[in-house]
Amino acid sequence: MSAISTKHLISIKELSTADIETIFNTADNFKEVINRPIKKVPSLRDITIANIFFENSTRTRLSFELAEKRLSADVINFSASGSSVSKGETLIDTVKNILAMKVDMVVMRHANAGACEFLSRNIDAKVINAGDGAHEHPTQALLDAFSIREKYGKVEGLKVAIIGDILHSRVALSNIFCLQKLGAEVMVCGPTTLMPKFIGELGVKVSHNVREALEWCDVANVLRIQLERQATRYFPSLREYTLHFGINRQLLEAVGRDITIMHPGPINRGVELNSDVADSSQSIILNQVENGVAIRMAALYLLAN
Ligand code: CP
Repeated sequence: MSAISTKHLISIKELSTADIETIFNTADNFKEVINRPIKKVPSLRDITIANIFFENSTRTRLSFELAEKRLSADVINFSASGSSVSKGETLIDTVKNILAMKVDMVVMRHANAGACEFLSRNIDAKVINAGDGAHEHPTQALLDAFSIREKYGKVEGLKVAIIGDILHSRVALSNIFCLQKLGAEVMVCGPTTLMPKFIGELGVKVSHNVREALEWCDVANVLRIQLERQATRYFPSLREYTLHFGINRQLLEAVGRDITIMHPGPINRGVELNSDVADSSQSIILNQVENGVAIRMAALYLLAN
């Protein structure tokens, strides 16, 4: 049986290229399974998984839960709102109480970078990072690269522009690591104020001109402006951001290239991406969501085994 080299899935940075390819090959099989009339397999029967979300989520939470159920795992869900976290319980106490109920794996989203790594060092159960602050969101990057591979038959040699709020984005960081490991060229594009200071150390091209990025790339992965993480103002107004960095049909027609449009969601429609692009045949946004279930089934299966 194939396996990956890590006990937990905390970051793309710690995965090898062979690990990523093993996850993709396993996801190919699970994608076939979830398109069958009977979508369930017994692979994780007798495994109990806790989905612990300290931050809001729609896609990741539902996708993990569905993936776990398709694998026949027993599933419990925890969200911080309405829990004893509001009474001052610590992260470790919360998780140890959940683990006392005989849980084998923990899928966690947390607002603090490093929270999943910290957890993995303090508990015996396997930990999957479902997004930790502005650090990493490994399963998002895996499903993004898997969707590119599905569309082009390869990732190697492609040019991928990640456009938007790079500073606050765990998706950007995980995507950069994943795409580079698979041999793609990566450009990041956004306002100077939304670029991390360390961006020059990551081996990516940097642009502050969205037209230049679109003229360069095969694939544009457009990111959300994360207003909830912005304590200060990084640009004068949303209207001005849209004017300079928003992607719409008119701009794509002016560029005149058949670029694939991606977005991890949730989309701020009319801000970073217009509906005439998000809902067009160039967009693979809903394919990303579909592939998320197969990728998460693969990650859960490989870690559990
Ligand atoms: N892409 C993503 O992480 O979306 P959610 O925040 O809805 O899970």
